[in-house]
Amino acid sequence: MAIIENWLPPSRDNWETLCYIWQFFPVVTAIQWVLDWYPQGKTSTESRFNIPGKIGWATMESAGFMGLVYIMLTLPQELGIKELPWGNWTMAGCFVIHYLYRAIVSPLFLNPSMSPIHPLVWIFAFAFQICNAISIGGWLAGYGPTTDNDWAGRYWTMEIGLVIWAWGLLGNMFHDDDLREIRRTADRKQRKEAEKQGKSPEGVDKIYMLPKNGLFQYVLYAHYFCEWIEWAGWWMVGGWNCHPARSFLLNEISTMLPRALQGKRWYEKKFGKDKVGSRKAVIPGLV
Ligand SMILES: NC(=O)c1ccc[n+]([C@@H]2O[C@H](COP(=O)([O-])OP(=O)(O)OC[C@H]3O[C@@H](n4cnc5c(N)ncnc54)[C@H](OP(=O)(O)O)[C@@H]3O)[C@@H](O)[C@H]2O)c1
Repeated sequence: MAIIENWLPPSRDNWETLCYIWQFFPVVTAIQWVLDWYPQGKTSTESRFNIPGKIGWATMESAGFMGLVYIMLTLPQELGIKELPWGNWTMAGCFVIHYLYRAIVSPLFLNPSMSPIHPLVWIFAFAFQICNAISIGGWLAGYGPTTDNDWAGRYWTMEIGLVIWAWGLLGNMFHDDDLREIRRTADRKQRKEAEKQGKSPEGVDKIYMLPKNGLFQYVLYAHYFCEWIEWAGWWMVGGWNCHPARSFLLNEISTMLPRALQGKRWYEKKFGKDKVGSRKAVIPGLV
C-alpha cells in the first residue's frame, strides 16, 4: 500500500527526478553562508512557536529511517523483486542503526537537555529526511542493485567501507557524549548544592563549556567531522556509483559546514578567541 501514490514508495520516474534535483541541495544551503539566523541549538531564539528540543529532534529525524524501511518493505513487491541482496540490507541496516541512535536513543534517553527548535528548522530537517529516504530507499529497494551478482567482486571495498562507517559512528557517539558530560557534570554539581541549601536544582538548559577531549582538542565540531567519516565509509560500501550515498554525504556537509563555522564564531564570542585558541571549526588543521 502506498502512503503517497508514486512517492512513498517512489515510481522510477519520480525517483530519478528527485535524485537529480537532490544533487542541487547545496544551492539551497548557500543561504546559510550569508544568513546568521539559525534558531536551533546554541543559536535558538525565543518564540512561542518553538518545538521542545527533544521532541523536535525525535520527530524530524525519525522520518528518514522510517521512510527508508517503508520503501524497503513495499517497493520490491511492486517491482516483482522476490528478495533484495544482502548488500542492500547491510546498507539499510547501517542507516537504521545510525538513526535509531540519532532520533530515539540520543534525544529521548541520553541528552540531558536540548534547546528548542523553531518550526522552520524542523520543517527543513523533516523535508531533508524524506527526500533522503526516497533517494536512498529507491536505490536500495529496486532501482539500484537487485541481485547478489551486482555486489560481486566488491567485497574488499565493502568491508573497508563498513569499518570506516563503524569508526565514524563510534567517533560521532564518543564526541556527542563528551558534550553530554558537560551538562551531566553541571547537573551533579547543581544537585549537590541544591541538597545543601534545601532548594531544587535550576536545570542544565543552555549550559555551555568548551569541550576538550578526543578530537575536540583540534576542532570544535568533532562530532560533525566523525559523522562525515561515517557516511563517507557508507558511500564506499555502496560503491562510487551509489549516487544517493554521495548526495547524502555532500548535502550533509553543505549544511553542517556553515553551521560549524557559525558555531566557531559563537564559541569565540562566548569564551574569547584566546580560549578557543588554534582549534579549527570542523576539519582538523584545515577548516
Ligand atoms: N545540525 C545539523 O545540521 C546536523 C545534520 C546532520 C547530523 N547532525 C548530527 O546531529 C548531532 C547533533 O547536532 P547539533 O547540530 O545539534 O550539534 P550541537 O549543536 O553540537 O549540539 C549537540 C548537543 O550537545 C549540546 N551542546 C552543544 N555544544 C555544547 C557545549 N559546548 N557544552 C554543552 N553542551 C553542548 C547541545 O545542547 P543545545 O541543544 O542546548 O545547544 C545538544 O544537546 C551531531 O552528532 C551531528 O553530527 C547534525
